[in-house]
Amino acid sequence: MSAPNKSYDPVEVEALKPEQIERMRDEALAAFEAAGDLEALQEAKVAHTGGGSPLALANREIGALPPQAKAEAGKRVGQARGAVNKALAARQSALEEERDARVLVEEAVDVTLPYDREPAGARHPLTTFMERVADVFVAMGYEVAEGPEAEAEWFNFDALNFLPDHPARQMQDTFFVEGTTPEGKPTEGDESGVVLRTHTSPVQARALLEREAPVYIVCPGRVYRTDELDATHSPVFHQIELLAVDEGLTMADLKGTLDHMVQSLFGPDMKTRLRPNYFPFTEPSAEMDMLCYVCKGASVGDPDRPCRTCSSEGWIELGGCGMVNPRVLVACGVDPEKYSGFAFGFGIERMLMFRHNVEDMRDMFEGDVRFTRPFGMEI
Ligand code: DAH
Repeated sequence: MSAPNKSYDPVEVEALKPEQIERMRDEALAAFEAAGDLEALQEAKVAHTGGGSPLALANREIGALPPQAKAEAGKRVGQARGAVNKALAARQSALEEERDARVLVEEAVDVTLPYDREPAGARHPLTTFMERVADVFVAMGYEVAEGPEAEAEWFNFDALNFLPDHPARQMQDTFFVEGTTPEGKPTEGDESGVVLRTHTSPVQARALLEREAPVYIVCPGRVYRTDELDATHSPVFHQIELLAVDEGLTMADLKGTLDHMVQSLFGPDMKTRLRPNYFPFTEPSAEMDMLCYVCKGASVGDPDRPCRTCSSEGWIELGGCGMVNPRVLVACGVDPEKYSGFAFGFGIERMLMFRHNVEDMRDMFEGDVRFTRPFGMEI
């Protein structure tokens, strides 16, 4: 039995040789240095400090060494791994700093730039269409006129030759605005003498009183009637009113003006027709129709070509018109011996419903941008 070998007898383990450990360390340091970004550094980290890295493998070999050699090899590997970890940490923070500096520049947000987080809305077709109609007349020299929506009963009715017992003046058709009695109590029913205007025609009277003849005005606006809201009625709707007062105006001027309007709005082959009617403020008065702009009358009497827009009538009812009643001229201080005039008014909603095949008038009032947007014209 031989005695234990006490003398230093290092087993030659290739991986633990000092020059090998130094090489592993230097390769790791070089790899970290070469890593241009954090991603590359992560790869180098796995390769040089991970469980399969040369230094980790060398570390594992230490266990196989005789006790005397273990300490020295352990120290060598430990120092090398320490240097590698230190270099890794240094490179890591250098690259992070670099990245942060770059992100600050590349992803900088200029908070002073305009933003569009709120989606753009669209102008309502009622507005754009009223402007379009008004423009037709502005181009001919008419002036846009306005009047109040809460209107004196006198302007809404009396000045326009509605007699006191005219059915339109009754509470079931007209909204009366509540006022205050001289005793300080709220007025009842129609006592206040103030109504929500039932049509844009009172602007005729206002315009005549405010201006000297000749007068040429166009008036788009909101009007009110006590109708229930349904697919074809609304208690609030829009009208456009026209008034021309000058020397020598005749019904031929009215007809020519109407034809010009529908041609401007719907195309050169359009025309209008008049049917006798009654309005207190015009004499003679007429109902005006325009040719159906879809079938141009071709659907009439032809069962093979039915027209949804005009129900194969060939014509679409527009509104009322006529020659200004001399009583209105007198009420507004205009000499009917010298001046004559024509006027017309029609509902915008109805016109738009025809024009865009809108089946339910309520769609126009709900304020849903999905309705307005297809009509174009962003704000
Ligand atoms: N104001 C009438 C209505 O609302 C429409 C109208 C008829 C207006 C004849 C006019 C006109 O200017 O001449 O029913």
